[in-house]
Amino acid sequence: MGCKITGWGKALPQLTVTNNDLAAIVDTTDEWIVERTGIRQRHVATTETTTDLASEAGRRALEQAGLTPEDIDLLICMTITPDAIIPSQACLVKARLGLANAVAFDLNAACSGCIYGIDVASSMMAASMGGIGGCQRNPIKNALVIGVDCLSRIVDWTDRATCVLFGDGAGAAVISWDEEEPGILATYLRNVDDSQLYLACDAVYDLSTLPFPQSGTPTPVAVIAGTQPAEGGEESYRPFISMQGQKVFKFAATVMAEAVETVCQRAGVPVEEAACIVPHQANERIIRFASKKMGVPMERFQVSIEEVGNTSASSVLMALADAFEAQRIRPGDKVILVGFGAGLTYGALMFQA
Ligand code: COA
Repeated sequence: MGCKITGWGKALPQLTVTNNDLAAIVDTTDEWIVERTGIRQRHVATTETTTDLASEAGRRALEQAGLTPEDIDLLICMTITPDAIIPSQACLVKARLGLANAVAFDLNAACSGCIYGIDVASSMMAASMGGIGGCQRNPIKNALVIGVDCLSRIVDWTDRATCVLFGDGAGAAVISWDEEEPGILATYLRNVDDSQLYLACDAVYDLSTLPFPQSGTPTPVAVIAGTQPAEGGEESYRPFISMQGQKVFKFAATVMAEAVETVCQRAGVPVEEAACIVPHQANERIIRFASKKMGVPMERFQVSIEEVGNTSASSVLMALADAFEAQRIRPGDKVILVGFGAGLTYGALMFQA
């Protein structure tokens, strides 16, 4: 018995923005972006909301799983760009999709959202169906997890070092309790402190509207993290994603290999037996680097970055949908998902299809 992935789906905004489109607004070239990242275009939500994209991906995953909205007992939306702070993104999607019986909440693990979201949903499912600890809980037979981000809202479109990397989209998966088959075999979640702020964004803390005097605050993330004294706080306010690219690159390539190795050990399955590895799509070069470090050929990795860029919490779930659609994953296959992102967060999981 176990928690099986039974449905998948993705949704993208209509507008595509090519590298040449970006070269018209910042000092960059198609060649530079392709060579350094593998990205050729990304989608940008100009008419769609986060709710629109998440709901469409969720609807497709339900259809794929052959379930009705009423069948879903739990909805988790993984996002850093919800349409509102309250109600949560998950509550908005629950209403849109008519998930009458679902409890719904958001989870922010940035680009590791897919791994964290599936781990949390499957843990809740296993605890409720297996009756762990003799505690009576909401029974969760079917869960929907949706990774969704409209990063275009928090990207500085004048900063060539970041704006070429990111895109918008949504990916979804249905997880169902199965009395016969195992489903998710092992998971591994980690956090390391981002004390040097490799990846940060203050976006929601615009305290300039407070009606009373501010003595040395606002409290941007640099101050909260202790990397900058409070009196320097105002200068370091980051309304958009700020990033130390090379530091993130090194971190990502290292932890991806560690996470995959650990999850294989936990599952008792050698990495050679994994039919497909679906990594976070941040940079094709990061995936190549990790592939070398792991000694796993690139052909076994799902690479979907070319047309969508880095879509944060949606990335792994969108790439997973691509792998299923391309029939790279067949019943019984072992599949590894691996992610990393702001926090810093990272992790991996292995499931049997
Ligand atoms: N177009 C043209 N030149 C650019 C550019 C762009 N879009 N962005 C940066 N450059 C320039 C830099 O200014 C620098 O110029 P200089 O040598 O004159 O100073 C040069 O290109 C090299 O910059 P560098 O940062 O060393 O490039 P890089 O090879 O490390 O690639 C990233 C930059 C961002 C693509 C790469 O570091 C990366 O992908 N990091 C990880 C980012 C990530 O995954 N973030 C999300 C994690 S969830």
